[in-house]
Amino acid sequence: MTIFRVRVLDTPTSPFAGGTLRSDDDCGLLVGDGVITARGPFDVVRAEHPDEPVLDLRQGLLLPGLVDTHVHFPQVRVIGGLGLPLLDWLDRYALPEEMRLADVDHARGVARDFVAGLVDAGTTTALVFGAHQAPAVDVMFEAADHWGLRVTTGLVTSDRLLPDALLTTPERAYAESRELAARWHGKGRLRYAVTPRFSLSASEGVLEACAATFSEVPGSLFTSHLNENLHEISEVAALFGGASYVDTYDRFGLVTPRSVLAHDVHPTDAELGTLAARGAAVAHCPTSNAALGSGLFPLRRHIEAGVRVSLGSDVGAGTGFSLFKEGLQAYFVQQLLGPDGMLLTSAHLLWLSTGAGADALGLGDDVGDLSVGKQFDAVWVLPEPGDPLAVGLDNASSPDDALSKVFALGTTSDVGGVWVAGEQIAAGRWRSPRPR
Ligand code: GUN
Ligand code: ZN
Repeated sequence: MTIFRVRVLDTPTSPFAGGTLRSDDDCGLLVGDGVITARGPFDVVRAEHPDEPVLDLRQGLLLPGLVDTHVHFPQVRVIGGLGLPLLDWLDRYALPEEMRLADVDHARGVARDFVAGLVDAGTTTALVFGAHQAPAVDVMFEAADHWGLRVTTGLVTSDRLLPDALLTTPERAYAESRELAARWHGKGRLRYAVTPRFSLSASEGVLEACAATFSEVPGSLFTSHLNENLHEISEVAALFGGASYVDTYDRFGLVTPRSVLAHDVHPTDAELGTLAARGAAVAHCPTSNAALGSGLFPLRRHIEAGVRVSLGSDVGAGTGFSLFKEGLQAYFVQQLLGPDGMLLTSAHLLWLSTGAGADALGLGDDVGDLSVGKQFDAVWVLPEPGDPLAVGLDNASSPDDALSKVFALGTTSDVGGVWVAGEQIAAGRWRSPRPR
């Protein structure tokens, strides 16, 4: 057991449902077997457990491990391809790189870069959009397992409108998905995600195969893209006889409480009604939406319709792994929407980056905040002395203000340590090398 002595900020209850930021200045967190077993004023926890070692982290502040609910593993090397809308960006940047993952050695290098990107950003849990090639998905699972990350991923499936090298058949999609799920689903912290790329590139046959896998692998998740770009949406409607985008998934039983749909920048009210009724979650990916010019996310309409919303970096259309940057961009977007936007406080941004993601992925009982009974997944924010974030934290007027500064100024360089289930997996770039 270890007592972590630290300033803790977390959001045990959604600020969209009345929750507020919880801030404990000199907090003691007793951690044993990866789980938080006591929490309180340090002096109290110390007095109750006088023999346990203390790790003094008072220099910075501790947040729950960040949760990225939409991030593409094969795209880590194409981050920063700016200037194109979605379908042109896919053709020019994403798909050529995704074809290279047919070489499993290349895929292994990409998986290593990708997982390092997550860890360095303080992301401890992620719903990862996988690769079109089964051996590359194996490699991703191996890398996540090696680092002990909570990763849900799977084979990306498509049978039309992509380069031939990325296409499969419904039969092959089903067989390979079941094999991957048999190997990895439920192993350690790994789970399987049924992942048609988007209904633009997935025929009814592939979606049927997805539905079969989804129902036959208990506890698996479903993920795909939804209503991201106006041109994409009209093409999908043409392919599915005028159906709404949500309906292309819903008619196969793929919109459920275990479904996470990325983007949803341009939903109809009826689609929001369906998402809410089914209990599905939407992964809002604000830097991607801005970089591709997809649009301004209608958060208020989602919240008012009762749709769960979490945050995704959408690497590589998104501009990096940091959920601090995504949170800030989410805030900007709502400001730019004027009266249609929602004023997001720093507590909202932390919730979207932690508890909301845990909830979307069905992991809300295990992670998302630093309450007693939760896993000790945490990120220690420790800016270099003298840098603007350190100065800002020293001069913050309140915990909410301090947290605003983390989202406004924080980068991956400010991550001073990362823990998953009580085990430290990163030590911060300017302090010491990663332990593995
Ligand atoms: N829609 C289908 N594939 C993709 C992708 O790789 N990135 C984004 N942003 N949208 C998609
Ligand atoms: Zn995506």
